[in-house]
Order: sequence, then C-alpha cells, then structure tokens
Amino acid sequence: MIEISPPSKKSEKNFTTRLESVDEFDRVETVGEMFVDRPKVSCLGVSVHYGDKQALFNINLDLGRNEVLALIGPSGCGKTTFLRCINRMNDTIEGCRVDGEIKIEGAEINHSDADVVSLRSKVGMVFQKPNPFPKSIFDNIAYGPRIHGLSGPKNELDDIVESALKRAGLWEEVSDRLHTPATGLSGGQQQRLCIARAIAVNPEVILMDEPCSALDPIATARIEELIDDLREKFTIAIVTHSMHQAARVSQRTAYFHMGHLVEVGVTDQMFTNPRQRLTEDYITGRFG
Ligand SMILES: Nc1ncnc2c1ncn2[C@@H]1O[C@H](COP(=O)(O)OP(=O)(O)OP(=O)(O)O)[C@@H](O)[C@H]1O
Ligand SMILES: [Mg+2]
Repeated sequence: MIEISPPSKKSEKNFTTRLESVDEFDRVETVGEMFVDRPKVSCLGVSVHYGDKQALFNINLDLGRNEVLALIGPSGCGKTTFLRCINRMNDTIEGCRVDGEIKIEGAEINHSDADVVSLRSKVGMVFQKPNPFPKSIFDNIAYGPRIHGLSGPKNELDDIVESALKRAGLWEEVSDRLHTPATGLSGGQQQRLCIARAIAVNPEVILMDEPCSALDPIATARIEELIDDLREKFTIAIVTHSMHQAARVSQRTAYFHMGHLVEVGVTDQMFTNPRQRLTEDYITGRFG
C-alpha cells in the first residue's frame, strides 16, 4: 500500500511547476501523464457548460486499456461531469453543452450519427448510491442483455446472469435467491449487484462514481478487490474522495480543481511526489 506522506520541505523543493491557485479565467496547462499509448478513450479539449456556467475547462485526458484511472479533487471540481461526458449522460441534462473531442477506439462519440444506445452498452456506469431496479436479482442482471438483444434462449440468459454475478463476487451469496427482490440485499451486496448489472452487457469501459462511499470497510474491500480483477478485462475510471482508495486501486490518478485538470500521474508518483502545489495541498488534506 502506498503511504500518503505529510507535506514536507523536501517535497516542496521537488515541484517542477508551482501552480498554487486556479480561477476560472486562468489557462491551466495540465502537467503529467495525461496521454497513454493506444488509449481506449481519448478526450481532447473537453469543456462543459451548464447554461452560462462553465464546469470543465479544456480537459485533455486518456483512459488506457486494462487501466484503473482514479479521478480526485474537491467537491464541485467536475469529476462527475467528466465521467458523464464519456457515456453522454450529460445529454439528458437541459442546458448542458459539451465541446471538444471524445473518442472511444478512435470513434467520436458525439458525432451526429453515433448511436447513444450502443455507446451506453459499451460504457457502463456505477453510481454512488446502489440503485437496483425494483425487480428480482435475476431480472436486474438480465435487464441489459435483454434490451441490447445479447441473450438468446433462456439457458444462455441463465449463463450470462451467473457469470456476471460470479465476476462481481456475489454469486455464492445469492445463487439460492435469484428470484427474490434485489432491494432485499444489503448495501454492499446491492452495489456488487449494480456492478454485475453493468458488466452483464459486456461493456468495454466502466465508470464508477464514488462506488464505495455508502459502504462499510469490509464491503469496500470486496469492491476494491473486484475492481482489480475487472481491470484484466475492462477500462475503469473511478471517482473517489478517499486518497487511500485511489492509491490502492488505480494505476494513474487525475487531480481536478475548479473544473481544470491540474495534474495526472502514475498513482505512486502522484501521492509521493506531486508536481503541483495544488495537488499536494489536496492529497495531504490541507483543503478539500
Ligand atoms: N445538472 C447541473 N446543473 C447545473 N450545474 C451543475 C449540474 N451538475 C453539476 N453542476 C455544477 O458543475 C460543477 C461540477 O459539478 P460535479 O457534480 O461534476 O462535481 P464533482 O467533482 O462530482 O463534486 P462532488 O465531489 O461533490 O460529487 C459544480 O459547480 C456543480 O454545481
Ligand atoms: Mg460527483
């Protein structure tokens, strides 16, 4: 596990740049490793407005294959807004405008002939609060495969449900109650169910917005293990307010501040030797 060290004179000397504050009219040049080879998702010059108010400023950031990217930053800095760009959930918010390029495997997702339904099957999302449908455990998982036409005969659907629940580490706890309401599960089980529901449609990217914030440490540890396993197959972006969680689960970390992407780095490096004063202030708990 990575130790998050307190601020020290030594680390202050190591800043390569000294960005100490941001206001929305500053032009902030992101420092660090925001681009990767052969990205799964690539965002270039992404800006988001809600009406007249700008929430994200010129974000350049790739999501790598088989990578967990942690998104961190103070409340209101734009983490959720950024995640919502990647599966076009911002389309559903009136007055929200997204500019810039967002490509998955090189294909622009905001292109006029891009298909939103197929995009959402490629890019799954898990929210802060588990949100099972008021249906049985089985029907929660089968829902996506049914609407995306992924399932054929009943046996095949049974297999999809079983395999998604196994991958989410929930099968053993629920295999004898698949046809009971999902709302009868504990919070941690419900969150693993939501992850199983997201992976049942075979997505390529999974977006997680503070998936453990409502869970106890044991349930959190299970989800973190699961995230590590899922990385073998998927690209994952996770928003977290826990520095320790970011350090445990991610390979790269992106630090957002007031709508700007201030710094992106290999997670170990970012927590031990951040390049911006703003990043250090946040990760050492001086604000945020
Ligand atoms: N639907 C919306 N309409 C108007 N403004 C919004 C909307 N959603 C977010 N915003 C604004 O955009 C900015 C970024 O919000 P966002 O929810 O992305 O922040 P966040 O980093 O996810 O914060 P938190 O850690 O509290 O979840 C904030 O100023 C917020 O008030
Ligand atoms: Mg948020």
